[in-house]
Amino acid sequence: MRPDAGPAPVAAVSVTVRAGLETYEVRIGAGLLGRLGELCDRPATQALVVSDENVASWYLERVMAGLEAAGMRSAAMVLPPGEQTKSPVVLAALYDRLYDLGAGRHDTVVALGGGVIGDLAGYAAATFQRGLRLVQAPTTLLAMVDAAVGGKVAVDFREGKNYLGTFYQPALVVEDPDALATLPEREVHGGWAEIVKHGLLAGGVTLALTEAGVADKARPDPRLLEADVRFKAAVVGRDPRETTGVRAMLNFGHTVGHAIEVAGGFARYSHGEAVGLGLRAALWLSERLTGLDAAAAGRGQRLLSAAGLPERLTGVAAADVARLIGRDKKAAAGAARFVLLEEVGRPATGVVVPPELQSEVVAWLIGR
Ligand SMILES: NC(=O)c1ccc[n+]([C@@H]2O[C@H](COP(=O)([O-])OP(=O)(O)OC[C@H]3O[C@@H](n4cnc5c(N)ncnc54)[C@H](O)[C@@H]3O)[C@@H](O)[C@H]2O)c1
Ligand SMILES: [Zn+2]
Repeated sequence: MRPDAGPAPVAAVSVTVRAGLETYEVRIGAGLLGRLGELCDRPATQALVVSDENVASWYLERVMAGLEAAGMRSAAMVLPPGEQTKSPVVLAALYDRLYDLGAGRHDTVVALGGGVIGDLAGYAAATFQRGLRLVQAPTTLLAMVDAAVGGKVAVDFREGKNYLGTFYQPALVVEDPDALATLPEREVHGGWAEIVKHGLLAGGVTLALTEAGVADKARPDPRLLEADVRFKAAVVGRDPRETTGVRAMLNFGHTVGHAIEVAGGFARYSHGEAVGLGLRAALWLSERLTGLDAAAAGRGQRLLSAAGLPERLTGVAAADVARLIGRDKKAAAGAARFVLLEEVGRPATGVVVPPELQSEVVAWLIGR
């Protein structure tokens, strides 16, 4: 090797996201967190890395070192983990920090963490001085396949989840599968609920990679991550600001899933577990309402089991779940609209499900 050869080229897959007028790359590759500075390519500007205590303890040092090596002045803000951090109070603290740093338009906010950090730091980046450069560096499976791609950023407000938010596309997304090595098992399952959702919606190679991927859930094949990012990018590309209806398909499994999450007081089931049950319900309803054949529905149910998601609904009252279906802010004019499947890879959105069938599917989730 020549003495001046410099660091080895970054081995990464790149997926391009085209959202309206904006275009950005999602780089996926082992070891990329340590090379985030090179990828940012913004020497002589400053970066604020926002992270939570768990993630920072593992990964902050290498990210800061990489930014410094690339000539970027960098500071860090490390927050407590958990959904409570996605709040206006913490957001205000983040604005204070950016203000004290004298951050301006050319500076970068790096969101290093799961969806909580991505949504919060993303919202701060979107709004501080009408927009700083945002780099998403997701460290949970859920954030890699879902939250970090697509530009939705938000904080919670009072009872409302994601109540204060906007669409703000990042300049770059950096996904390092090595970071998944430290992810707690429950979070792995949470990511798999969205991966199975994508697999069933996309069908084809994405579904095949999903079925193969369950053998090693904690260390997903980078090709599976890539397929999921490509799928999300394609949906986002057709509906960057959720106005054409295409993005609604991503609500698959979430109508019943969200009701289960709320009925369980956000304690009985995690979001991913609730969505897993919601996907089971959606498959059952698809067989009855949109002509999904029994073999395909069975394939979906088996995949959910293999992904380690719950088999049946327990510890939550059926009546509460049935009452809560369609009560979230996504339900238009009172009627619960479902995303169901005609076939794997062919979703139908806006399907009206009669109230009797809604109760029946909840009973089935309990009795199966
Ligand atoms: N913007 C979007 O499109 C979108 C999509 C889906 C979900 N979300 C949001 O994402 C949030 C959920 O995100 P999440 O599931 O990533 O949760 P999270 O950010 O709370 O992370 C889960 C837990 O894992 C820890 N953690 C993260 N990475 C780790 C790692 N590599 N090693 C060890 N521990 C690690 C965190 O500290 C936390 O305790 C919700 O607020 C949800 O609303 C947003
Ligand atoms: Zn979800």
